[in-house]
Amino acid sequence: MKHIGIIGVGEYLPEKRLTNADLEKTIDTSDEWITTRTGIKERRLAAKAEAVSDLGYKAALEAIKSAKLKPQDIELIITATITPDMSFPSTACFIQSNLGAKQAVAFDISAACSGFIYGLVLAQQFLARGVYKNALVIGAEKLSAVTDWNDRNTCVLFGDGAGAAVLAPVSSGGILSSYLGSDGSYTDLLMLPGGGSRNPASSHTIEKRMHYMKMQGNELFKLAVNLMSHAAEVAIERAGLKPQDISLLVPHQANTRIIMAVAKKLHFPADKIFINIQKYGNMSSASAATALCEAVKEGRVKKGDIILLDAFGAGLTWGACVIKW
Ligand code: ACO
Repeated sequence: MKHIGIIGVGEYLPEKRLTNADLEKTIDTSDEWITTRTGIKERRLAAKAEAVSDLGYKAALEAIKSAKLKPQDIELIITATITPDMSFPSTACFIQSNLGAKQAVAFDISAACSGFIYGLVLAQQFLARGVYKNALVIGAEKLSAVTDWNDRNTCVLFGDGAGAAVLAPVSSGGILSSYLGSDGSYTDLLMLPGGGSRNPASSHTIEKRMHYMKMQGNELFKLAVNLMSHAAEVAIERAGLKPQDISLLVPHQANTRIIMAVAKKLHFPADKIFINIQKYGNMSSASAATALCEAVKEGRVKKGDIILLDAFGAGLTWGACVIKW
């Protein structure tokens, strides 16, 4: 089996910032509550005319450039998103068209906040067997489109953005191990109930605000800490390593308190954790992707470093991935 590594990263964050102070003007909340409970100070909002494929396309372009490839070289495009442009065609096909990546196979996956890690692991399988020479994995979300801006329990948490990575065979290192998990008995904890085949869009679904995400935050919080810790432990063990061998934890950015609780369980010191939630909030599949991109851009990931990606999300889904850079 070939070693498969990440040879390029990219991101795109919409320009418009929505601060906690802005939210104080529209709902019953405070900067103090949001900051202490979540770590979030502001989030980005895509423009009305910007769809998820537009965000993903820009992140993809940067990743392809940093991999020193051309869009025409890309053979596989996997887009992880829970806010696709449309139910179909896939967002990956829209991105493929924008890129002019004519020879690529393109499809979407739905694993919520774990989507980027699911995508990396899926791409690795194709590349390790030599089916494709390279793969573009994108995590992109326009969560503002499915956020109920009257619901203070959720609207303070989410934001829009996209991150991307290009994978290809490398001479050594790369993805050392991974672990994915799912548990469909928790589907009710976080969902978008309206608009699908269960509850097709109608005046009733609109009236009941079923086209917005519904979340049970408290239950998710506890599960997130346990599942992310478990995923990290299994992935580290599968790589034949110990937690102290990890140079940097790059987690899904749902809540600083979740990240710190996971880090405490794994005995990771604060300087080995990458956090950018203060700038962007929770961007679901785009969170781990942009965190990885920014960690690289900021020089927090150097050649030879061993990084741990770790996420959980709706489904429930969870997963971790150990990568030698
Ligand atoms: N501003 C002010 N007060 C608020 C706000 C707000 N924005 N939101 C809730 N409150 C209030 C509640 O009404 C409650 O008041 P009460 O005690 O009078 O009833 C109080 O604050 C405490 O609420 P809790 O829900 O207990 O607060 P908690 O400390 O659990 O924090 C939070 C809530 C931030 C949602 C937390 O539970 C969390 O982060 N959970 C995980 C959520 C998550 O990660 N979801 C995404 C999954 S990833 C994916 O797939 C997209």
